[in-house]
Order: sequence, then structure tokens, then C-alpha cells
Amino acid sequence: MVQSDLDLLLLVPPGLGRRAGLEEALRRAIRTGALQAGARLPSSRVLAADLNVSRGTVVGAYDQLAAEGWITIRPASGTVVAEAPLLHVGVGERLPLEAEAIHPRHDLRPGRPEYGSFPRTAWAAAVRSVLALAPNDIWDYGQRFGRPELRRELAAYLGRVRGVLIDPGRLVVCAGFSHGLGLVASLLAPGPIAVEEFALARSRATLEHHGHTLVPIPVDDHGAVVDMLDRLDPTPRAVLLTPAHQYPLGSTLSPGRRHEVLRWATHHDAIVIEDDYDGEFRYDRQSVGALQGLDPNRIVYGGTASKTLAPALRLGWFALPATMASNLDVVTSSARLECPVPVIDQLALAEMLRCGAYDRHVRRMRLRYHRRRDELLHRLATNAQRAAVTGIAAGLHAVVRLPAGVDEASVLAACAARQVAVGGLRTDAHLSRNLRRGDVPEGIIVGYATPAAHAFGAAIDAFTAALSDAGLGQ
Ligand SMILES: Cc1ncc(COP(=O)(O)O)c(C=O)c1O
Repeated sequence: MVQSDLDLLLLVPPGLGRRAGLEEALRRAIRTGALQAGARLPSSRVLAADLNVSRGTVVGAYDQLAAEGWITIRPASGTVVAEAPLLHVGVGERLPLEAEAIHPRHDLRPGRPEYGSFPRTAWAAAVRSVLALAPNDIWDYGQRFGRPELRRELAAYLGRVRGVLIDPGRLVVCAGFSHGLGLVASLLAPGPIAVEEFALARSRATLEHHGHTLVPIPVDDHGAVVDMLDRLDPTPRAVLLTPAHQYPLGSTLSPGRRHEVLRWATHHDAIVIEDDYDGEFRYDRQSVGALQGLDPNRIVYGGTASKTLAPALRLGWFALPATMASNLDVVTSSARLECPVPVIDQLALAEMLRCGAYDRHVRRMRLRYHRRRDELLHRLATNAQRAAVTGIAAGLHAVVRLPAGVDEASVLAACAARQVAVGGLRTDAHLSRNLRRGDVPEGIIVGYATPAAHAFGAAIDAFTAALSDAGLGQ
């Protein structure tokens, strides 16, 4: 007889006799999946001792369940849950357990940093220091707007590096830019919000989820065409922009348009939401400072650690104008919301900012990504001469525009055939009602940051070969 050491928590329902209660508890455990098909049940002697009932009670219950088809009693190998449980509540209602993410052989999807370069040592040192030195209150529930240590460090860092003018009291920590955008969207009465054409699908979805309607404005080499805002009827109550590095096309909002959008917002009492998703990564010159510095009371500024460290951290921040900060205060206190970012992670980031490890990491990655971009451009110029790269030297992605006669779908198919994952301007554009597919230019969005250093050359080889396959060679 094979013995089972399965430890079983059996919740015997009240009001039933010993044997009937045990039978029902076992049925429930099988139905809910707590006992899975093939699981070996304890011998009647062991279970009887565990439950402090007679062995006859257990034998009787096992016999009954075997007769009903829930379990199978095999004299030589013990008692097991039947292979096909009769009723498995929840089948068809379960959420997928498999990883949602695809891990392509050559990962050139836009917007992701190099995971192999995550500063594990510095992060571990920061966590160790937090665990050693932080007061016991770190184990309490978190705070609504994030830990004060992180808000202070971030306010100083953003002022120093991005020209953001913010009091730590108006800076909130959020679970990535997307979560912060959701908070901001929830503070605005539902209505029209202007967005850059084919802006990040996730941001569009977040705004729509909160009941806003999207009004796309075009983008050219000088950033979003904000002069259009004056002509929109009804007037949007906000505009979402990526001023430092337009996503995905890669232009910078020109100085004239920076002032123009501010004039528009002031005139219409609207707000500008600035998405500064990769502002730390500019390669040809110093980054342009954040728009927010021009008018902290009109401009909501959002940033993220998803590009500088890793999206898995879900760490972002928003600098709010005074009225929005007080509205958030009211909303979070009545809805009892707290900052969802784990306190230890917040304090670890604060420590990395404090000791300079964050700056060092960003500087190192800036150099690395700059080299990768240069390498990509060089390889394209050599092997895919008909591909034109547009956008400023910045960020973690580039856009390859396609010549007449070459369509985006066939280039994406050629990439897929060589196991290269990239984005497509038209394919990724989740269109709003006011934008037709035909209006979106075609092009390939290629992220150059993600592959490990040893895999980068092969990934670029495969990409340029795919472009050649699609007719973009000589
Ligand atoms: C344009 C843009 N904004 C914001 C983000 C960052 O979002 P999150 O901080 O939620 O990861 C990304 C990331 O891909 C992005 O591409």
C-alpha cells in the first residue's frame, strides 16, 4: 500500500453526522480543485487518526465517494481522486495562468529597457539599507500619496534633471505613468481630451475608460500641431502631450508650440498633461527641460521608472497643480485609496536617488542606448538603404518610414518570418472615431534597448535582413 503524506484541510460542514460531513468535505475539496485529479488521499488509518474519528467512518466515506465516482480505490496503490472529476466548478471562468507576455527571439518591441542591465546590485544594496535602517512604521499600511522620503527625493531629482518645479507636497507616487494618468483622468469631469494622433494605445484606453472622448491632433516634425486646439469645438478640457520626445514619431515640441499650448490652456482654463516617459534619454544634446517648468499650475507632469529601471517595478510619479492636488486629497480620502506601490520599493528608489546610484545608472544606460542607436542607424544605412529613420536622437526606439510601394503589413510579415518583433505605426494605432486608418502613416517602430548585449548584433542583423526581404535593400 502506497502511503500518502498529503496534508488535508477538510472543512467539515456543521449539522451533518461524522461520516456524511466527511463525505461532503471531500466532495467540496474535489469540486473546488483543492484536491486535484490524481491526488493521493491519506490512508483510512491516517485520516481517521488526523480527524479523531473511527477508521470505519473513513472507510465508509471513501466507499461512498468511490461509488459516486469521485475517487478510485486501488488496493495496491491507495486511494486517488478520479481522473475526470465529475463537476469542476469554475472551469471556463478561470483567468489564464500562462504568461501573457510573448518573448520573441529578437525582441525589438518599442518602449522597453534592457532587462539584463537592471542595476541588481545597487537595487539590492538599497533594499538592504532600507531593511536595516528604516523605522518599524514601514510595515504599516502605505500612505495615500507615497512615502515622504521618495516624494522629497523625486522632487529634488526632477528639479535638477528635468527642470520640474514642484513642492514634494504636490508630487504623488503612482504605479507607473498609466496608473497616474488614470488618477488624473478620474479628477476631470468626463469630456473631450485632445491627444496626439496615434498616441500610446494604453494612454488612450485609460482616458476612455474614465469616460473621456479623445480628439486627435496631428503631429509633424515640430511635435503636436497645438495651434489646432483653438479650432476644436467643443474645447477640450485637457491635452495629453509627449513634448520632449513625441511617441511614437520622435519629434520634439518646438519652443513656439510650447508657448502656444500654454497660451491655449490659460485662455481656456484647460490643463496640459505632460508625459515625460523617456526624457532622460537624449543623445545629441542636453534634453529639453520639462514643459511643466513653464507653468506648474497649468501643467500636470508625469514620469516613470519603466524606461530608466524596469516596467515590472510599476513606479511612476505625477506633479500636480494646486487645485488638482486638493481634489486628489478629497477623492483619495473619501474613497480610502492608498498608494499601491509597495513601501519597500518606494524606499529603495528613494535610497538610490539619495546615494546617486540612480543617476549613475541612467548615465550608463544613456551611453549604452546611444551606441545602440548609432549602430542601428549605421546598419540600416548599409543594408536597408531605402529605409528612412525619422525622429530625434533620443529614447529607446526609432521609427523607420517606408518608401512608396512598400507597405507596413508586408514588412511586419517579413520581420515575423525572421522572428523579429517590432511595432507598426498603423498596426499599433488604436484609432479613435475621429481618425481614419488611411490617415495614419505607415512605418516600423523599432525598439533597440531590450536585447541583451550579446544578442543585439544578431537582432539587428535579423531586422535588416527582414527589411531587405521586404524590398528595402538597395
Ligand atoms: C509614451 C509612453 N508613455 C508612458 C509610458 C510608461 O508607462 P508606465 O509607466 O505605465 O509603464 C510608456 C511606456 O511604454 C510610453 O511609451
